[in-house]
Amino acid sequence: MKARTTQIVGWGKYVPERRLTNQDLEGRVDTSDEWIRSRTGIRERRIVSQEETSATMAIRAGASALRVAGIGPRRIDLIIVATITPDHPFPSTACLVQAALGAGRAAAFDVGAACTGFVYALGVANDMIRSGTYDNALVIATETLSRIVDPMDRNTCVLFGDGAGAVVLQATRGDGGILSVSMGSDGSGAELLIQPAGGSRFPATRETVEEGLHYMRMNGKAIFRFATHVMPRATREVVRKAGFRVEDVALVIPHQANVRIIEAAMKRLHLPPDRAYLNLERYGNMSAASIPVALCEAIEEGRLKQGDLVVLVGFGAGLTWGSVALSWTAPWPLEKVSWGHRIWRRLGFRWAYWRLLLRRLSYRILRRR
Ligand code: ACO
Repeated sequence: MKARTTQIVGWGKYVPERRLTNQDLEGRVDTSDEWIRSRTGIRERRIVSQEETSATMAIRAGASALRVAGIGPRRIDLIIVATITPDHPFPSTACLVQAALGAGRAAAFDVGAACTGFVYALGVANDMIRSGTYDNALVIATETLSRIVDPMDRNTCVLFGDGAGAVVLQATRGDGGILSVSMGSDGSGAELLIQPAGGSRFPATRETVEEGLHYMRMNGKAIFRFATHVMPRATREVVRKAGFRVEDVALVIPHQANVRIIEAAMKRLHLPPDRAYLNLERYGNMSAASIPVALCEAIEEGRLKQGDLVVLVGFGAGLTWGSVALSWTAPWPLEKVSWGHRIWRRLGFRWAYWRLLLRRLSYRILRRR
């Protein structure tokens, strides 16, 4: 019998409506559209509304991924959410997603590996599926970076945006799917990109708020150097582990931090620049959510053909890095779903929502007793 493999069978994304353009930023800090475009490749990014959070975006991206996969929330047995901007320090954002989607059988936890979070979460889910512990996993990355970026710091506020992306992973015994995973870290660079306060080292106080210690701090130049070295290294490693050569890669879906980082990495890999998928012009850096949102858009633009060797590669705070090599198996465009099936699924989600409200109500009543 063939070994268990992990396939991506569903994908989804959610980005907030509100756009923050370079021109908008010109009116806020000492910067220019020309500087941002030429140094980063970014034109605009999406910013959450007052009501939106990392969990609300994750729920929408996750629900879309389930729709594409054509499976109901009760078949999901594992939910992993990658985020550095959870709704709360605890409970995990994954648990909020689990309840809202009505995934009553799922274990749920968060992974914190900054921009590499989605790749780390895929690696963990892949191993849990291959080992036979779980069959259907929902892996989501979601970020509301606008809530931890100092709006007056031109070094960071021009770079980051909000959004969420998700995939459904399924155990099969077919060929293809996730072929290899590579992950790494170097904590000696922890201070290069950090949110200093809000954890146990500097809990929130009036002073930490006044000193702006809840905003992220970044040494952009050092991160830039690190990224241009680590992205090609992680790509080479995962391709070699999968038994291929770099020139076999049909598409690289890199972390969308800076077009110059991606171009430098592609040059070092001796791959043409058009083999990297880019959407950072429209969204900026959405940290962990960048790769799954880019993956979704690459699929929907028809950039992935069945049998293609695809590499997802990320880097970020920690420092962390990681890559996944996969052989693309899902068909595109999708087959049409019947009306009856669609209504049935919608009812399923509605039922999950009402169940969540009823449970919350019952916990409140019990607390009062
Ligand atoms: N507008 C205008 N000028 C600016 C801006 C701005 N928004 N930001 C910085 N500058 C100035 C600097 O102050 C500096 O001025 P100086 O020479 O008078 O001191 C000048 O522009 C050049 O600055 P550099 O830092 O040399 O610019 P560089 O070309 O390195 O680009 C950037 C800066 C875009 C931040 C780049 O270093 C970069 O992309 N680094 C990687 C950042 C990154 O990817 N972070 C996310 C990691 S993922 C995660 O885990 C969240």
